[in-house]
Amino acid sequence: MDRILIRGGRPLSGEIAIGGAKNAALPLMAAGLLTPERLVLTNVPQLADIATMKALIAQHGVAVEQPTNDGRTLAIGGEIASTEAPYDIVRKMRASVLVLGPLVARVGEARVSLPGGCAIGTRPIDLHLKGLEQMGAVIRLDGGYVHASAPQGLRGAAIVLAMPSVGATENLLMAASLADGQTIIANAAREPEISDLADCLVAMGARIEGIGTDRLTIEGVRRLHGATHAIIPDRIETGTYACAAAITGGSLFLRHGRLDHLGAVARVLAEAGVEVSAEDDGLSVRRLNGLHGTDAMTEPYPGFPTDMQAQLMALMAVAEGAAMITETIFENRFMHVPELNRLGARVNVHGASAIVRGVPALSGAPVMATDLRASVSLVVAGLAARGETIVNRVYHLDRGYEAVEQKLAACGAEIERLAG
Ligand code: UD1
Repeated sequence: MDRILIRGGRPLSGEIAIGGAKNAALPLMAAGLLTPERLVLTNVPQLADIATMKALIAQHGVAVEQPTNDGRTLAIGGEIASTEAPYDIVRKMRASVLVLGPLVARVGEARVSLPGGCAIGTRPIDLHLKGLEQMGAVIRLDGGYVHASAPQGLRGAAIVLAMPSVGATENLLMAASLADGQTIIANAAREPEISDLADCLVAMGARIEGIGTDRLTIEGVRRLHGATHAIIPDRIETGTYACAAAITGGSLFLRHGRLDHLGAVARVLAEAGVEVSAEDDGLSVRRLNGLHGTDAMTEPYPGFPTDMQAQLMALMAVAEGAAMITETIFENRFMHVPELNRLGARVNVHGASAIVRGVPALSGAPVMATDLRASVSLVVAGLAARGETIVNRVYHLDRGYEAVEQKLAACGAEIERLAG
């Protein structure tokens, strides 16, 4: 299995191009199942999770074509030949459950493997299922699969989410677009990826109001049509490279990065002593003087994202003073802590909070992580650590970061992938 070798201590400088958002691309690809016409997505990132979603769409019998040579455009469309999302694909990527809403809405049926546990917690899909039930779907669980059926089609409903789940909001938004009548999703998640999905659905003929708010109103239409949609830049990739610039005391221009999508990340970085400013078609990031310990608590957007928690912790590991980082979204998302501590960080976890006492320097070591953001936090830490850090289990990184070692090496990092 590939590993990443980093010799830390070099300040980053230069430009990194931010790719399309993985977490926008995945639901948008699922939205391609809502119409037989072609949905053309541009700015698609080249990631393992995207390849998994392509395989899933193809498994439903729908064509996924790449009309351009660069692989960044996908054209999805066709008749649905199979409504099954098998265990082998879903277990690789939880976001596979996003095909549930589109399939039931379009053909009245879906059989989707339950995702089961994952490294960062139990992550149920009860809110997805309850919402679909409210829309008239009959849900059965059998042999590890969710079977949803609505042979007469879905009907509009007033849904109040018990918590603003990103995936449930997306699944129900897609389903409601083809339901009969009006659906209201209250306490909806309002991550920029959801607005991106809603904008694309509108371009496909959906009638949605309240985009960007926690209350979405959808007037169902009989059919959706094809469209072309450019995926928004990845705000988590942006935030990750901002932490990388900051931890090395360097400065980066993050092309395509959007300040208006960063939410609390920009504020927390500013408090920590990192300047993030909007420029033409991107953001510039630089560390001002020292880094200061800054508290943060993960929350739904526009709060501090759970997907940035590990990277912030790496940064805080070398800040002056202490930082308390509280995780409120997932119950088991501190697996990077013992690994960061192997690099010399001083982090203690108490329940849902981690106390990070900054140290003057980290020192390189072999490390390994069990999820995507944890892995990249070790890369960020390794960039600042003295000596050699080897990050094992790189396949996690490849799920969500395109060409991470090339992008960092081009800005002065000593980083390479070791094959095998
Ligand atoms: C999405 C993101 C993921 C991010 C997460 C939170 C994608 C592909 N993934 O995941 O990177 O970390 O948002 O920002 O976009 N919950 C329930 N019942 C449900 C659904 C969720 O209890 O039916 C709980 C989860 O266990 C979790 C919380 O709600 O505690 C948030 O989960 P959710 O927003 O649904 O995350 P995902 O959509 O899975």
